[in-house]
Amino acid sequence: MKHPEPINHEIKLSTKRYIVSETDKKGIIEYANDYFVEIAGYTKDELIGKPHSIIRHPDMPKIVFKMMWDRIQKGGNMLALVKNLAKDGSFYWVVTEFEPKMDPITNEMISCTAFRKAAPRDAIKVIEPIYAKLIELEKAGGMEASEKYLHGFLEDKKMTYDEFIDNTVGNKGVFKIFFTMMKKLFS
Ligand SMILES: Cc1cc2nc3c(=O)[nH]c(=O)nc-3n(C[C@H](O)[C@H](O)[C@H](O)COP(=O)(O)O)c2cc1C
Repeated sequence: MKHPEPINHEIKLSTKRYIVSETDKKGIIEYANDYFVEIAGYTKDELIGKPHSIIRHPDMPKIVFKMMWDRIQKGGNMLALVKNLAKDGSFYWVVTEFEPKMDPITNEMISCTAFRKAAPRDAIKVIEPIYAKLIELEKAGGMEASEKYLHGFLEDKKMTYDEFIDNTVGNKGVFKIFFTMMKKLFS
């Protein structure tokens, strides 16, 4: 799939609205809420049935998505800071919680919902240089290199990935309440 050329324009997201999408087990979009459609710049028809990588921004390191897929396929939730690409090449930053639905018999992932809200400025400031470093490492040495760096980085901080992200986005407060509410609404 051909991606739009990124431009240096940030879409200002409403702090009151949320972006929700649901995919099948392969990441094909099956549901998009109105705000997702509005911000992505595609029509609903253009989004449904497409791989979620349709909004992948080249500034996102591969390792973040690899960790997310590893986690959700095991039935775990994951919180991540994601920079996404709109149809016109603009970008927007979101705090995203991925929540998989598992088959109770096979224990395999059936589908996954992602809840997103505007990312706090401070969190973007923290994560931007880290993602830039991870991308640089991936260009030179592939995902092995970025994974190694990320492990070292978290070891230095004596934090797990989840602790680091919770800290960075302040998940203990507003986000926690918001995501809990969303999950109830969509369950
Ligand atoms: C429920 C769900 C939501 C996703 N949302 C996004 C998203 O907002 N942005 C994004 O770039 N990738 C998202 N992905 C990940 C994509 O499926 C894909 O792994 C990622 O864009 C990397 O694409 P690539 O492997 O083709 O490089 C989502 C996946 C799932 C399962």
